[in-house]
Amino acid sequence: MHEEVGMRIRGLLDGEDDWVAAMATVVCELHHAFDHFHWTGFYRTTQPNLLKIGPYQGGHGCLEISFDKGICGAAARTGETQDVPDVHARPEHIACSSTTNSEVVVPVKSSSGAVVAVLDVDSDAPAAFSSTDVNFLEQICTYLGAKFHA
Ligand code: SME
Repeated sequence: MHEEVGMRIRGLLDGEDDWVAAMATVVCELHHAFDHFHWTGFYRTTQPNLLKIGPYQGGHGCLEISFDKGICGAAARTGETQDVPDVHARPEHIACSSTTNSEVVVPVKSSSGAVVAVLDVDSDAPAAFSSTDVNFLEQICTYLGAKFHA
């Protein structure tokens, strides 16, 4: 399933050079492919230490997140994937939905290593994301960083 979705994303983005169109396409494909993805979206680095919401699927997402806040801020600040099987165990978690129980946030990096965005996926299920899910999302973000932020 992951390989099929990855190939579909790469096919849809073949020849595409618009970052917003790419983010919108990726979140649409991911959100509708995996039933345990209950919120799927990007936050973009729009100024130093600040994330602003980008294309997303699911309920209302908070509009901005400082790098020193939330799970998204942790991913942007550290440049490392945040795989959170229980969001209630992370006091810094920002609950855009009261039903979220697990979350994974993956940074998108430019060729210089700067975090240009994060991909945030939330699930109402506890410990919803497998290592295959996480590795797949990291592959997608690596692909996007190389293609759109060389
Ligand atoms: N849970 C995220 C905030 C974004 S909403 O989930 C869409 C966080 O803690 O950074």
